[in-house]
Amino acid sequence: MGKEISMQHGAEWWKAVAHCIHDGILVIDKHEIVRMINPEYTKITGVTQHIIGKPLSAYRRGAKLPQTLKDGKIRAGVYRKTEDREYMVDMAPIILDGEVVGAVSVCKSLTEVDKLSQELKRQREKVETLKSRMNRAYEAKYTFEDIMGKSDKVKKAISIAEKASASSFPVLITGESGTGKELFAQSIHNKSERSGRAFVPVNCAAIPSSLLESELFGYGEGAFTNAKKNGKPGLFEVAHEGTLFLDEIGDMPSSLQAKLLRVLQEKKLRRVGETKEREIDVRIIAATHRNIEQLVHKNHFREDLFYRLNVIRIEVPPLRERKEDISILIESQASEFTSYIFEEEAVRVLRSYEWPGNIRELKNTVDYATCMADNEYITVENLPSFIVKKGEKNKEESETLQEMIRRREKEYIQKALSTCGHDIKGKKKAAEVLGISLATLYNKLKKLNM
Ligand SMILES: Nc1ncnc2c1ncn2[C@@H]1O[C@H](COP(=O)(O)OP(=O)(O)OP(=O)(O)O)[C@@H](O)[C@H]1O
Ligand SMILES: [Mg+2]
Repeated sequence: MGKEISMQHGAEWWKAVAHCIHDGILVIDKHEIVRMINPEYTKITGVTQHIIGKPLSAYRRGAKLPQTLKDGKIRAGVYRKTEDREYMVDMAPIILDGEVVGAVSVCKSLTEVDKLSQELKRQREKVETLKSRMNRAYEAKYTFEDIMGKSDKVKKAISIAEKASASSFPVLITGESGTGKELFAQSIHNKSERSGRAFVPVNCAAIPSSLLESELFGYGEGAFTNAKKNGKPGLFEVAHEGTLFLDEIGDMPSSLQAKLLRVLQEKKLRRVGETKEREIDVRIIAATHRNIEQLVHKNHFREDLFYRLNVIRIEVPPLRERKEDISILIESQASEFTSYIFEEEAVRVLRSYEWPGNIRELKNTVDYATCMADNEYITVENLPSFIVKKGEKNKEESETLQEMIRRREKEYIQKALSTCGHDIKGKKKAAEVLGISLATLYNKLKKLNM
């Protein structure tokens, strides 16, 4: 019959267990006498069986295990070096019926620790690669160089934004739809010291309010049915050390406004369904096309959150208040693929229009016109008719008689040139069509800056 495990065999059985463990083990009793070591302990430390039955401190000067016996505290990862051996030791008291009756020391050779640290390094590198991949997925592409415009209003907005990028204060960008708020937000991030990290845009108006909370703050394990097994980090966590762009902040539901305020104040967040707090370091840039002061006044937006966000305010002006920028914007958009030339009259029509959709609308209009043009010259006929009608109306209302005559004259000449051509042959033909001499045509072209 083989040996059975019984109370009598208990000590021997545990000894056998200790012998097959891959870590070094040394046990002392409450009088600090060594009661057991396993072969691995000898292998790692060089200490042999002769120590058994002897007081530990007599043979191992500087041993911390007697201390564990006294204070009953666990010590983990203590580094030890004796002659040419290096190892790490974990120490713990042995407690029986609530009393410390001994202590155990478990040691790992540093070659083993070395292997683990190599593995840790590999894992860290993996994490870094994944992080940088994620950063690339959340990359801001625009910089201040992409913001076209020479008007005082735009220059002022750019100057404030450039100063804002030197800090991590919250920024609130306001301005009508299509004025370039996102362009400003991205440029600030790209010029800031956070540029190597993620720029995470969230459209607070586009995500259903029931989802927005977990999108922003993430959720813990089992927070709700269909939740991912290990939970999911929210966009705040994704933006850690980077920038979170809260677009359309004016549309954020009020229950979330309170939570957002708390996170911004504490710089800590709790995932939905979790109690654990996580520290976050995120720069907030918020934007809205709404009149946010009015939202605050009507109690649709929390006043305390407004003040929290409104540290640096950037007001992006509508296009109709900076018409001097229209030519530059047309030029940059029209030269994106091929070079197009907008005839002066077409530019005048575009300048007379009010641009409710701002730069987005202007860009689309330019794209439309280049698509409609028969050659590289873009005329009034190539513009969308509703813009021409509205532009003409505005123009006529504010025109003197002389301006009107000059405008009509230019329109006629331009029309003739675009049908006959802009080369010498075309100009000769255009003069004929217009019923003037070629010399008069040249004079007029010069006088009318054409
Ligand atoms: N100053 C500028 N120079 C060149 N392009 C610009 C400028 N401002 C805006 N744009 C372009 O106009 C378009 C609209 O800009 P953007 O999306 O930043 O506007 P927005 O203010 O965020 O609009 P919305 O309120 O509708 O979200 C984009 O294609 C952007 O690149
Ligand atoms: Mg936007």
